Amino acid sequence: MLFWRVKPLDQILETAGRKALTRQLGAFQLTMLGIGAVIGTGIFVLTAEAGQKAGPAMMVAFVIAAVVCALAALAYAELAAMIPVSGSAYTYTYGVLGEALAWIVGWALVLEYAVAAGAVSVGWSGYMNGLLKHIDLFGLVQPGTLELPRWLQTGPYDGGTFNILAFSIALLVTWLLVLGTSKSAKVNAVLVSIKIAALIAFIIIALPAVNNQNFEPFFPTGWGSPMGGVGVLGAAASIFFAYVGFDAVSTASEETKNPNRNIPIGLIGSLAVCTIFYLLVGYGAVGAAGSAPMVGADGVALSPGTPEMAAACAMASHADALVCSKEPLAHVMRMIGFGKVGNMIGLAAAVALPSVVLMMIYGQTRIFFTMSRDGLLPEKLSKIHPKYHTPHVITIITGVFVALFGAMFPVGILADISNSGTLFAFIMVSVGVMILRKQQPNRHRPFRTPLVWVVCPLAVAGCLLLFVNLSVYTIGLFFGWAAIGLVVYRLYGYNRSELAPGNNKHGGGPGMDPEPKFHEGPQA
Ligand code: ALA
Repeated sequence: MLFWRVKPLDQILETAGRKALTRQLGAFQLTMLGIGAVIGTGIFVLTAEAGQKAGPAMMVAFVIAAVVCALAALAYAELAAMIPVSGSAYTYTYGVLGEALAWIVGWALVLEYAVAAGAVSVGWSGYMNGLLKHIDLFGLVQPGTLELPRWLQTGPYDGGTFNILAFSIALLVTWLLVLGTSKSAKVNAVLVSIKIAALIAFIIIALPAVNNQNFEPFFPTGWGSPMGGVGVLGAAASIFFAYVGFDAVSTASEETKNPNRNIPIGLIGSLAVCTIFYLLVGYGAVGAAGSAPMVGADGVALSPGTPEMAAACAMASHADALVCSKEPLAHVMRMIGFGKVGNMIGLAAAVALPSVVLMMIYGQTRIFFTMSRDGLLPEKLSKIHPKYHTPHVITIITGVFVALFGAMFPVGILADISNSGTLFAFIMVSVGVMILRKQQPNRHRPFRTPLVWVVCPLAVAGCLLLFVNLSVYTIGLFFGWAAIGLVVYRLYGYNRSELAPGNNKHGGGPGMDPEPKFHEGPQA
């Protein structure tokens, strides 16, 4: 069963060649693409969540998540350079472990991309709500005049009813993607610069304000326990979200010039830059503002994203707590007397985070496109718009779901669900690298994972460690989603797959437009 219906790698490469998208991205653009997809809600918003789960030891959580990501990135880079086609972990798994597991990975990537897009939309709404509350429009209005009613600021699990801003931004981004993205690589570069400038400003101002007492006690919640979703490992499992997205680089392989060289540079380069920033920002935030977790009546740290946490944070005495803030970096600036800089950071987040939503929805639609090309999803989904040359049907469906996720759920819950799918995909990729080394040792590998028999097993172990430290609800949801996926596969893709007996058309998915013409490069 495991190696059943494996799609030969040469056929995968040939399929991609036939459906060529224009190769227009270079190493620098790709690294910017990676940074554009990676820096987002994780550092701008989930810092508060990590603080609630681990206190000052969230710094350790950042390091653990970075190490796991680096290991997985090294595995990713080998397959991404070797199989430079769209579809990311889904495609790699198809070529190594077979269709059934590839389907499950593709199905899990829905969590990674679509749910993540929802999480980032919620993160964006936090900063926008903060801006609307604090901004005075150069003295034209009183601060607070523009603030939305509380029930429209967050979803029902977070003290509100319907997160209107998260809902709206997801739909707006969807609309932009439908219109086409061809001219936006430059926009991406500008937005990445804005995010980096905001983080640098934060670091420069926060570091001198660090108070060493804020690091005591350093481990208020301990290491955490499996399926507990708290402690340092629980925080690492959540903050892992801050690194997610670098693999979106590999989904752009078919649009990359000289992918064999540029994909590994894009993956590892973007991860390295982000890690350095996160550690400095995390240190500055905890040191300047403190991050003592909210505890319940029993003295146990409350879970973020629950009504109990929302109620604790609503108490006036906790108004200033970093762990309660929906816009922690702006909040820290305001706490240490740099209100204007706080607003500027809020503005930077408000301007730049939609690019992450865009990258995530983009990645999702390209994975669906690839699955549909393989016959595992209906061909209608990958229809190309006659005027805009974009896969508009799947983009709109994805966008509507993302908007609803964003409207209803708290950022931390969405981020954790997304992480479960991502960790699963990373495990499959790392296993795939090892199997291919055994099965096809002589295949050309432009990038070879160093110390593969150490790095890949460690990547699998690291991803598993983070996975089991997600909350029991998240893990249950992941397996429920996977079970639904298997039923869908058996009822649909199993018979319609390009690799099913009698279906092999060597021309893409059944009835597909043989030469889809969308030619836009990804952007953010
Ligand atoms: N890493 C991306 C973010 O933090 C998903 O928003």
